[in-house]
Amino acid sequence: MSRTSEGSETSEGSAGSASSHGAARAAGSAGSDVLVLGGGIIGLVTAWRSAQRGLRTAVVDPAPGGGAARVAAGMLAAVTELHYGEQTLLGLNVESARRYPAFAAELSEATGLDLGYRACGTLAVALDADDRAHLRELHDLQLRSGLESEWLSGRECRRLEPMLAPSVRGGLRVDGDHQIDPRRLAKALVAACERAGVAFHRQWAERLTVVRERARGVVLADGTELAADQVVLAAGSLSGRLAGVPDDVLPPVRPVKGQVLRLTVPRTYAPFLSRTVRAIVRGGHLYLVPRVDGELVVGATSEELGWDTTVTAGGVYELLRDAHELVPGITELPLTETIAGLRPGSPDNAPMLGPTALPGLLVATGHFRNGVLLTPVTGDCMAHVLATGELPEEARPFTPRRFDAVPAPVSVEQSV
Ligand code: GLY
Repeated sequence: MSRTSEGSETSEGSAGSASSHGAARAAGSAGSDVLVLGGGIIGLVTAWRSAQRGLRTAVVDPAPGGGAARVAAGMLAAVTELHYGEQTLLGLNVESARRYPAFAAELSEATGLDLGYRACGTLAVALDADDRAHLRELHDLQLRSGLESEWLSGRECRRLEPMLAPSVRGGLRVDGDHQIDPRRLAKALVAACERAGVAFHRQWAERLTVVRERARGVVLADGTELAADQVVLAAGSLSGRLAGVPDDVLPPVRPVKGQVLRLTVPRTYAPFLSRTVRAIVRGGHLYLVPRVDGELVVGATSEELGWDTTVTAGGVYELLRDAHELVPGITELPLTETIAGLRPGSPDNAPMLGPTALPGLLVATGHFRNGVLLTPVTGDCMAHVLATGELPEEARPFTPRRFDAVPAPVSVEQSV
């Protein structure tokens, strides 16, 4: 027998705010139109956009606003984070970057919160001859892909960022790659969901409920049963582990560990860096993301070690060693935080968006290195398919069904 959810919380006066914001009717004990499993930024944006479309929406997560976004640096790096073989993903990344200014303005306006969005651009630099050759090839790929990126000499790089080491040999100036503070983004999305009438169940989902070969809701950790017309699995790297989901439907996500440091630039020291600086040092990706409030994020390791989130001496050492080589003055700064998180990796490094082979179950996961960047387009695409049943064209190459044993046909041109 079903119990109604005592743990369900809607924002105060959500019914009133729902009508005044043109948003959802609150999703209460009678069940939801949409139940989102996972309250990280991907689940939250899906819930917010769905509620805005009038769908009764609920989120299941013990600590909404947490997840990988607590660790992420927040680079919006469609151009400087381009990788070979990821041209299809590039199209989605560029589209999401294009939507970011309006998305950030709308979210900020809806909540009154500052997201730390900074249109500051990015400089990707090379420290030795191998790095320089690599960066030259990346530049060619960027230009062939129609992206804006300018090659600079080492001296020109240091003119832009005087704290860079004299050994910097050249770099790419990309004025279109920006940043946002993912912790502020997550907090704002929680607030926006609350204002839009989204219900929060602050627990783990234990098991998907499947009735007559259709997803019908979930059972929570305390045994509460929640019913829903559609369930969205958006639990990051945990998305592949929900009990009750048939094995051939579980999204193939794996955890990819990233260790990240946070330092503080004292006011007297500013400006330390004026834009995001990236480099490849001895084959490892390094980035320094300076925020307006003085926070400097240094990342990140990339480790395939299962579910381990230990911050290791080796990880911290490598990040500081490489950052010191790039910007020697960094060792003067207070080290304020060390943290590790898990990127949800998919077999082709691209997200999975939309319906699965199990009717009533959709996924929004596998965003890997691009979760923060892909937040706006993910919210739009997921709300569209939840409201209409149709996956919009830009999301079709990212159907989770591309990993089915016999994949469902994809009807759009997959290359950009
Ligand atoms: N996008 C940065 C990272 O995954 O480390």
